[in-house]
Amino acid sequence: MKTAISEASIKAMLTREKALFIQRNPKSKGHSENAARNWLRGVPMHWMVDWGTPFPLFIERAQGVDLVDADGNSYIDFCLGDTGAMFGHSPKPVVDTLLREGAHGFTTIRPSASAVKVGQLLEDRFKLPAWQITATASDANRAVLRWCRAITGRKKILVFNHCYHGAVDETYVNLDHGKPEADRALIGEPNDLTQFTKVIEFNDIPALEAALAPGDVACVLAEPIMTNVGMVRGTLWQTPLVNLPQCAILALGRARDCPVVRGGQLAVGKCMGASLSFDHRIVNGFPASRFMEFLAESFNNPAF
Ligand SMILES: Cc1ncc(COP(=O)(O)O)c(C=O)c1O
Repeated sequence: MKTAISEASIKAMLTREKALFIQRNPKSKGHSENAARNWLRGVPMHWMVDWGTPFPLFIERAQGVDLVDADGNSYIDFCLGDTGAMFGHSPKPVVDTLLREGAHGFTTIRPSASAVKVGQLLEDRFKLPAWQITATASDANRAVLRWCRAITGRKKILVFNHCYHGAVDETYVNLDHGKPEADRALIGEPNDLTQFTKVIEFNDIPALEAALAPGDVACVLAEPIMTNVGMVRGTLWQTPLVNLPQCAILALGRARDCPVVRGGQLAVGKCMGASLSFDHRIVNGFPASRFMEFLAESFNNPAF
């Protein structure tokens, strides 16, 4: 691959960074070696060693956006616990509720009276009447795929090349020189996953039209790409630049208290900067402005 930075500089930087990582993390290194006795590759979940570091960091605590590792190094968690900590690590109301409810029994395989209240709160907030809970996003995706098939009577699904939708085997189909094939890491899979999964490149509109034309796709799975910088570090405004082949980018700032006029009176409200850049060859000003109006209205009234 041709890059502007020479391979030799990249290698030298990696060697330097790896040495620094080892030097800064003796306790994590020790934990990783000791854990290898009982855990496959030294970690409770095998993908925890998928990062490029010589061994994983062992985390001592996480609060808000901050992580502190076993050696006392602190980090800002731009990954937000891989979305599980979207609203920060260990928010106090959640910690208090877990402590309170944990004392009432961990699992009873039956609902509690709180389910009635929680269902009502979910409807009030999202204006959707019917709810189900799954334990993980992978479970939710598996359930949705089955429901889509049941509702449409269609068997196939469509994913984008190198997508990630959790531990949902049938989404692990990639394009190899344009040919769909099951991910080679998916060992032990007895089914031909390409039979019911179509895969195309992201942003390839003709390929999408061709894949949907036979009318046999029950569900299209896509990951909207969100970055966390506004949530994590409190920037108020940003000027996003479109990075081709993307066609638009929205940057959100931190929500903060600000003066607002309500019913002719000044009040303290919440303000949040939002800037949209778009490629005028693809999107005209009118729909882009409509999108911003819709966004503002949705934030002002979450049930909109
Ligand atoms: C887009 C997407 N879908 C699904 C998942 C799977 O989530 P879970 O580990 O809760 O099954 C993830 C987790 O990273 C994800 O990023």
